[in-house]
Amino acid sequence: MDRMRRLRNNAAIRDMVRENHIRVDELIYPIFIIEGENICNPILSMPGIFQYSIDRLSEEMNRVVQAGVRAVLLFGIPKHKDEVGSGAYDEQGITQQAIRFIRKNYPDMVIIADVCLCEYTSHGHCGLVKDGKILNDETLPLLEKTAVSYARAGADIVAPSDMMDKRVAAIRKALDQEGFSDIPIMSYSAKFASCFYSPFRDAAHSAPGFGDRKTYQMDPANGREALREVEEDILEGADFIIAKPALGYMDVMKDIATHFNIPLVAYNVSGEYSMVKAAAMNGWVDEKKMVMENIVGFKRAGAKMVITYHALDVAKWLKEME
Ligand code: PBG
Repeated sequence: MDRMRRLRNNAAIRDMVRENHIRVDELIYPIFIIEGENICNPILSMPGIFQYSIDRLSEEMNRVVQAGVRAVLLFGIPKHKDEVGSGAYDEQGITQQAIRFIRKNYPDMVIIADVCLCEYTSHGHCGLVKDGKILNDETLPLLEKTAVSYARAGADIVAPSDMMDKRVAAIRKALDQEGFSDIPIMSYSAKFASCFYSPFRDAAHSAPGFGDRKTYQMDPANGREALREVEEDILEGADFIIAKPALGYMDVMKDIATHFNIPLVAYNVSGEYSMVKAAAMNGWVDEKKMVMENIVGFKRAGAKMVITYHALDVAKWLKEME
């Protein structure tokens, strides 16, 4: 007679039949770098996460190295914002400076640079704005310039998160033309217009000044549409696909993993982090157990890698479990 419990008799048997594992090599840690000096600002809605100025970035980077995490995702926060997000593609911009700093001082770190305009525009939208509309094709050249300048500064991977149509093709072409045909694109393909990004917008000073992002990010009610987004991005030349948010969208990840053979990345977003942190700080849940269960859930859903603000803790817990 079938008895499923036979495979759960003891820890060794359970370990033997375990289908999914979390590996430190698959974790990506987001970092916020702010223009200015001697800054280490706590983000109130994201306990444990800080904005660093470049002169203090090594404090954070040393922790990353110590934890054994090998990839970081960079978000720059400029002093100056304007209508056209010029800080994003300024060779002396905050993200370019951060990339150069990490490239020089931590040569083995995988540097992933988020490509978007929302941290750099005065209106806080991810593209150019005209008469209250977010323009698509007019935004593409600015994204191209941004991606190329991050590659030039030393980024290993560029990650467009703007959700303009055809930006992967545009960025691919621009990178190739500038001699960066070996730089991969990690595309935020299935990115939903989610309320789970609000703590990030505190951290990156990137909340839209008017309206919302619903004309470019996806409707949370749509799962099948995500497959079209992913298909387009793969045809345009994406090397990795990001699904975002993660927790409420495991069905989308599962579908992507089933339909496409490309490394899938789960973005365990800011609001998901804050929820767990808040509950843990109240003593209502066990933080470590909850985080590990969430992350192995992303793996089960088909994600290869996980972008998470918990990355350094997870790496530490994995070491303790060895
Ligand atoms: C920039 C960007 C956002 C996130 C990643 N890149 C914010 C947004 O789209 O408003 C969200 C990340 C998070 O919530 O952790 N476009």
